[in-house]
This record gives sequence, C-alpha cells and structure tokens, in this order.
Amino acid sequence: MIKFPHNFLWGAATSAHQVEGNNVNSDWWVWEKKPGKHKSGKACRHYDLYEKDFDLVKKLNHNAHRLSIEWARIEPSPSKFSQKELRHYIDVIKALRERGIEPIVTLHHFTNPQWVARRGGWVNPLTVNYFLSYCDYVVKALAKHVHYWITINEPTIFLSHAYIFGAWPPQAKSYVKATAVEENLAWAHVRAYRLIHKIYHQQSLYEPAVSISQNVMAFVPSKKDLKNKVTAFLRDQVYNFGFIDRIMRHNIWRKRPLDFIGVNYYSRQVVELKKMNLGSLVSDTSDRRFHWVKKNALGWEIYPKGLYDVLIGLKKYHLPVMITENGICTDDDKLRWQYIHDHLRYIDLAMKKGVNVTGYLYWSLLDNFEWDKGFAPRFGLVNVNYKNFKRTVRASAKKYAQVCKTGVVE
Ligand code: FCB
Repeated sequence: MIKFPHNFLWGAATSAHQVEGNNVNSDWWVWEKKPGKHKSGKACRHYDLYEKDFDLVKKLNHNAHRLSIEWARIEPSPSKFSQKELRHYIDVIKALRERGIEPIVTLHHFTNPQWVARRGGWVNPLTVNYFLSYCDYVVKALAKHVHYWITINEPTIFLSHAYIFGAWPPQAKSYVKATAVEENLAWAHVRAYRLIHKIYHQQSLYEPAVSISQNVMAFVPSKKDLKNKVTAFLRDQVYNFGFIDRIMRHNIWRKRPLDFIGVNYYSRQVVELKKMNLGSLVSDTSDRRFHWVKKNALGWEIYPKGLYDVLIGLKKYHLPVMITENGICTDDDKLRWQYIHDHLRYIDLAMKKGVNVTGYLYWSLLDNFEWDKGFAPRFGLVNVNYKNFKRTVRASAKKYAQVCKTGVVE
C-alpha cells in the first residue's frame, strides 16, 4: 500500500479548444475547414456545461483541475479584448473555487488567434509581445483567484508538430522556422513568468507558482550497446531537458524563471540507430518486437517506469514537479485504471528517491477533440456521447476517485 501526502493535488486536465466548442476565432478553426480534416465543432460543449462538469469533478473527489484560457476568445482581433469572455473565465475559475478545487491555468495550449497566425504566428518575434499583452489582461483579472499558472503547454510538441512535421497549423516543415519559434516561445515564457510575478507583487498577493508543461518521454535503447545508449542519452537531454535548460539560462539575480516543473508524460520510444546521420540520430526507432509492451489506441507504448526515470532526471533542477498530464486513450477501461495505478506507483517510488512531486493531473477529465486525430481517441475519465453531450463516469474514474479521497493506492 502507498500513501501520498495529505496536501497532494489530485485531478484531471483539459484544454479549451479540445473541450469548449465553437472556438471560431482560432487558427485551428480555419485549418479544420480544409478538406479531410477533423472538425472540433461543438467539441464537448464544455463552454456551456462547465458547471455540470465541475460538479462531476467534485463528485470524483478531485481537489485540483487544469484548464486553459482561449486567447482567441479573449482577444479576437488585435488589442480588442473581450470583457465578456474575460467574465466567462472569471466565472469558470470561481466555479472551481466554490467547489473547493484548485485551478491550474494554462495560458497557451497550442491554439492561436487567427490574427496572430496571419501575422506570421510564432515565427514572428512580435508574437511574444502580443502574447504578453494577452497575459497581462488575463492575469491582472484572475490573479486573486489563481495560484498555479502554466504559460505554455508542451513547447517542443507545438513547434515540432506545427513547424517540423507539418501536421498542425501552419503545417510548416522548416528547421529554420522551428528554431525561430523555439527562441520566441522560450522568451515568451520568461517574460510571462516575470510579468505574472510582477502583477502579484503589484496586487500585494502571495507569490504565484509559474511553469511550463514540458512533454517528456522515456528514451530506451533497443540494445545496450554504446551507440544506442549514447543516442538515447542525447535524445533525453535534447528532447526532455533542452527547452527547460534554455529558459533556465534567462535567470536574473539568480532567480530562475520556473517555480516548479510541469511534466506531461505518456509513453516511451525505443531507440535504435540505423544510420550515422543527423536524421537518424534524432528519429530512428526500433521496429522489432522485443521489449514488447501494451499500447494505447493511438499506438503509443505504455511504459510507467519511464515516468520514474524522467522524474529522477529532473532532480538536478531542485524544483517541485507537478504531473500536469498523464493518460491513455483506450476502449479498455480496465487498462485505463491499470495505467493510472502503475504510473502512480512509479511516482511514489520517485518521491521516495527525493523527487518532490506535488500533484497528479490525469489527461483528461472528458473524452475530447484530440487535435488532428479527431474524436476517436478516448482519453476521458468521463465518457462523452457526442450526439447528445451526455457524460458517463467510467469505472476507472471511480477507482481514481478513491485515490483522490484517501491518497492511498493499493
Ligand atoms: C498532449 C497535449 C494534450 C492532449 C494529449 C493527449 O500532448 O498537451 O492536449 O492532446 O497530449
């Protein structure tokens, strides 16, 4: 039996575009209109149904909940901020607070306003300024209700999918652009970090806790030979820690621009270097069958021990860690519970080895719009019927609710 600390944060995560519906001023909305693309449409109608959804969150004993604010709603055209939409998000956060649930608020979760995209998106260094003025507007209004902020969700996934693989808008395939985007995202985080702290100071509020959500993977060498071990090590350094290291260099007066580290973990990659060139070094994987493990519905390998390895790797930063996403899409709800259970066991092990993990947020509360994959992958603790938007709590959610209540994992 494992017992987590009494002040541990337990909950689930969502993002605005994936659950709210009708995100008409975002770049994704335009992109989804292209032939052959999945359309987010009404998504889960969470924009209208959030109070009911938060009733469920409370019933499931969560004491924390991660959500994102939609920039395209707040600022649908340049410098035209919508008070009505701001009001909406104030109501959303208050609805959580009224239920005794700690909000963890993301400011950028992959989507951008259309006008930002038209001006060159994150390739354009001015986007950093645009982002900052949006943050300023939102954080000033929400500061007194929010302690935890995530500035940018998964910067490396965003830049690789949108600017290297060409899978997400604006579908670029350019290392040159990706490099500019990385620089701009890093700088945007650092400046937003400072801005958020400044606002709390000005409003005489207790220091906030600000981070990014860093996507991490376990890189496992297919064979224990030097070549593959070194490649796995390098990928770990670049992919898992590269962006964190980059923003850490922007410290002033020894103050580093992260108060904790938000970690999103799903899967592993089995590394097998087939050729000696840069492309192979960054992307070759094993297609053999040894090291077999179960997979989720999207084919991502299930490997709970990898979370432990990554957490141990993060020890060097001497910062608290919050698991801001971890989850599985599957039609096998028993496997979902197994997934949660096994990851919690490895989190506990990492904590025993000195990693200060402060919370666990399952991805996701609801089945939702999984980006370019559409609605087929089901990640939710709660099933969503997309015809009538009815919610049905899954058995795994009930088991997780017991853990949230007691802090005990059997
Ligand atoms: C993460 C994203 C999240 C969701 C999960 C499955 O990369 O942050 O929005 O799509 O994957």
